[in-house]
Amino acid sequence: VKTTVSVIKADIGSFPGHSRTHPKILEVAARRLKEAEGSILIDSYVTHCGDDLELIMTHTKGEDNEEIHKLAWDIFMECAGLAKEMKLYGAGQDLLGDAFSGNVKGMGPGVAEMEFEERGSDPILIFMADKTEPGAWNYFLYKIFADPFSTSGLVIDPSLHEGFTFEVHDVIKKRKILFNTPEESYSLLAYIGAPSRYVIKYVWKRDGLIGASTSTQRLNLMAGRYVGKDDPVMVVRAQSGFPAVGEVIDPFRTPILVAGWMRGSHHGPFMPVGVCDANCTQFDGPPRVICLGFQVCNGKLIGPADMFDDPAFNRVRDQCCELSSVLRAHGPFEPHRLSLEEMEYTTLPGVEKQFKDRWEDLPE
Ligand code: 13P
Ligand code: 13P
Ligand code: MG
Ligand code: MG
Ligand code: MG
Ligand code: MG
Repeated sequence: VKTTVSVIKADIGSFPGHSRTHPKILEVAARRLKEAEGSILIDSYVTHCGDDLELIMTHTKGEDNEEIHKLAWDIFMECAGLAKEMKLYGAGQDLLGDAFSGNVKGMGPGVAEMEFEERGSDPILIFMADKTEPGAWNYFLYKIFADPFSTSGLVIDPSLHEGFTFEVHDVIKKRKILFNTPEESYSLLAYIGAPSRYVIKYVWKRDGLIGASTSTQRLNLMAGRYVGKDDPVMVVRAQSGFPAVGEVIDPFRTPILVAGWMRGSHHGPFMPVGVCDANCTQFDGPPRVICLGFQVCNGKLIGPADMFDDPAFNRVRDQCCELSSVLRAHGPFEPHRLSLEEMEYTTLPGVEKQFKDRWEDLPE
């Protein structure tokens, strides 16, 4: 029997502003999942990254299962109710629909799921981010599964030598494409280097074994208005034919710039932090990522290990603070502020509307 890992997340309200989830909300979510263990779930774990409530669940029902998605939706609705009672900020923010209809996809919450036959030992790493968008994983997934200067196993381990298959989604045109690495690495990069539009959804071994799964929804495209960022999640399997745990987390030592941060409208450095630092503060950020490691054992989650709670990541955190100062000095100027194309999904068009009648055409 196969095990499914489902990570389903939503921002259902936070305090103060968009900085963190409330402990009462985490408690209710954890209790509801515990109650479902032994019936529809095998195991569960609840955490948060910034203002996003993260439900980690294991079961045997496969991806896109109605009962699992309904459980998550009902918990988000109950927690949003609690958030409303406490007048938390943005209560119910990511819950776009009002009635559940079989699947939380397209309703606001982010979903990353994978179903697999457990190996003799199955380490998984669950990444959860706040103040950025799903394409933020592109750079890291490429480094992990396709860059031999990052993952040494691609060169020295025969079980990784054949490479991997990447499924890329075009979130604007709603289409998908497969690329094989290493032979199509350059073509893959041509697309995923534009992470606001092209997002890696899955990575597989050539024989079809699942290696990584991400959440790819774009809230603003769905809602047609500004509702914050999509604050993505990702599940990665490690060891024995996949990159080692250390190879999976090593790329996060590089302080790359991602879209999100204040008002979902700015580029900022992506800072790996321990769970105790998973609160967005400075300029509502900077964008943050946490990583919990588990061993999956007959569906049970042995763990978690808080992977970025480690002095080995102090240097990248310092570099993020340096970059943050440089970018913040730009104030309202690009490239700190997102490009006009991406600003279409923020509150800027509302400002432009006020001046639409004051513009005069220039002579030819
Ligand atoms: P150990 O000898 O500590 O098991 O390390 C093996 C390994 O492959 C580390 O990446
Ligand atoms: P969230 O998507 O995390 O709610 O961020 C919204 C925002 O506007 C932060 O400044
Ligand atoms: Mg929020
Ligand atoms: Mg447990
Ligand atoms: Mg958030
Ligand atoms: Mg958000």
